[in-house]
This record gives sequence, C-alpha cells and structure tokens, in this order.
Amino acid sequence: MNSLKQWVTNSSEAINIRLVRAVPRNGEDEEDEDITEFNPVFTYPIFGEQEQIFGYKDLIINLEFASGSLASCFSMGYKDKKPTADKIYATMKDFLPSDIIDNHDLFAQIAQRDYKEFKPMGTKIAEYRSNHEGAEDSVFEFYQAKFDTPRFLEYHKRLQCFSTFFIEGASFIEDTDEKWEVRLLFERINDNGQETYNIVGYCTMYPYFYYPDQIRMRISQFLILPPYQQQGHGSRMYQSLYNDFCSRKEIREMTVEDPNDDFSDLRDKNDMKHLTAKGVFKDLQAPIKADRIEQAAKAYKLTKRQVARCFELALLRNLD
Ligand code: ACO
Repeated sequence: MNSLKQWVTNSSEAINIRLVRAVPRNGEDEEDEDITEFNPVFTYPIFGEQEQIFGYKDLIINLEFASGSLASCFSMGYKDKKPTADKIYATMKDFLPSDIIDNHDLFAQIAQRDYKEFKPMGTKIAEYRSNHEGAEDSVFEFYQAKFDTPRFLEYHKRLQCFSTFFIEGASFIEDTDEKWEVRLLFERINDNGQETYNIVGYCTMYPYFYYPDQIRMRISQFLILPPYQQQGHGSRMYQSLYNDFCSRKEIREMTVEDPNDDFSDLRDKNDMKHLTAKGVFKDLQAPIKADRIEQAAKAYKLTKRQVARCFELALLRNLD
C-alpha cells in the first residue's frame, strides 16, 4: 500500500453512530445492550469537501447515543498515530451535543437510567402501529414542540447533529427563535410493563408571513433516522404535518426548503394520493388551465408549483 494512503481515513466511514438501548436486567448492575450501528452520510461540513482525516491507521470514532434521551459519548481508537495527525475531537466539537461525555462507564449508567426514565417532551399529537417486521410490538407517537417547550431546547441540542450527518447542506437552526415548530416521532416499546422510548425522526418548520394575514409554513429539516427508513414512517410524518396544516386556519400554504430527491418522491407520492382521493384529477385533459392549478393549490394549501407537478404526474399516469 502507498505509505501515505494508509494514514488517510474517510471520515464518514470512520464514524460509527451507535444508538444504545441499555436495558437493565436483574437489578441495577446487569444490563443488556441492544445497539444499532450506522455511518453518517455527510461529514464534509466537519472534515471538509474530501471527507478525509489524516494521520491515523485503522481509525474508528464512536458516537454513542442513548436511543431515547440522546445522552451521548465520544470515543475513538486507532492502531497508530502520527504526531501531526488531525485533531479529531476539536474538529467535531462544534457539531456534537455540547453535553457529550467521553467516560464510557458513566455513559453506560446514564443510558441505563434513561432507558427507564426518559419520556418525550411536548404535546402528543397522534399514535400509530406499524406492520413492519420487528416493529409489531411498537407504538409510534408524534409530539409537537417549540423551543419554549420544557426540556425541548436541551433535547434539540442533542438531536441537531443528526441533521448535519444526514441532510445535505443542513445548518443548525436558530434555537433562540421561538417561532420554530418541531414534530418529533418516537417509538414506544412496552418492555414487561416498562414503557421505553426511542427517537425515530423529526421535522423542523418555520412559519413565514403570507400577505396580508396568514402563514406560509416551511418545512426545513425532515429526517427519519436510518434504522427506521423505508418503513413508511416518513410518509406518516408528512401526512401528520399536512393534516395539521390543513386544520389550521392561519396556514395558507405549505412549502419545503431545498427538498432532495428522496424527499420530493415522498412528497409527490403523498400529495398524489391525497389529491386523487379528493377528486382533483377528475376529467383530466392536457393542457391544464392555470386557474385550475391555482384553485387546487389554494384549496389544498400546496404551492402552485407542487400542484402543477402533481397534475403532470396525473397526466402521465393516465397515459400508462
Ligand atoms: N416496508 C418496506 N418499504 C416500505 C414500507 C414498508 N413497510 N413502507 C414504505 N416503504 C417504502 C415506500 O413505498 C417508499 O418506497 P418507494 O420510494 O420505492 O416508493 C420508501 O419506503 C420510502 O417511504 P417511507 O418509508 O415513508 O420514507 P422514509 O421513512 O424512509 O423517509 C426520508 C424518507 C425522509 C427521505 C428518509 O429516508 C430520510 O430521512 N433520509 C435522510 C434525510 C433526508 O434526506 N431528508 C430529507 C431532506 S430534504 C428536507 O429536509 C426538506
């Protein structure tokens, strides 16, 4: 191997994110650790465009999180290190929870305590069951929170690093602005009579002024954590937000900040389902008149652009 190459590590591959469910057994001293491990998708905001770390051989960086409370622990290991190696913790620090610790024994104790004690914050909006394999005993619960919701500001400081790792171009939101609304999704598991919670995903939204006296609600960051992706939770969260917006008179329109392809697919699928059920695409013939798009956009609180896109998809569907 090229001698320099062995001192270079891809930062996304080096980082292991571990969601830890520290299940206490037989009293306080014993525990089973149920760990779900995955890598971040994006680390360029932290380590630069090349996503490279210099100066270590066989580097591993562990970021452990209690699966509900997101109490966290940083640790790293390597076979060898150059004196000029990159300083890893110092580079990552601003992107990690400010209360992250590096004492693993202490973390294990906290994770065990939180397994029993952690409860979601905010107002519970709804719950559902999933028929996805392995989730049959779980109930999924939505909570609504703002930065003035008790315990939420601290929780968000732990949660926000996931947007850096999984949403391209995400930046931390201004948590002193109390207008932000956040939808949280938790999994509730009944473990022999003990209710425990795991974080599944979240969405941040900002209410912009819509002239003269309404609101344009903008979805900013929408994330389902990797172990829960492709199981229908993203669609559930999107529908839950949309239903909420539809029921709120002050909201005129829902928009999305920089949707990526996966989110656009999710949005298209769900909007198509909803608009089809409402009969919006009846007697469809190209070209679609602008006022028909405008009326549907107004009635269903979607942007004209998104409704035009749905009409186009409906026309294509009719061709098939
Ligand atoms: N079993 C298998 N597949 C299923 C099941 C199931 N029970 N239920 C749904 N699916 C399929 C859906 O049919 C869909 O497949 P398709 O696209 O082939 O039709 C696919 O899973 C995705 O649908 P969901 O499961 O509802 O979506 P998911 O929960 O994975 O959420 C999201 C999608 C939000 C993009 C998620 O993958 C994610 O958070 N990714 C990383 C972050 C990200 O990209 N966020 C959006 C950035 S843009 C923004 O923030 C505004």
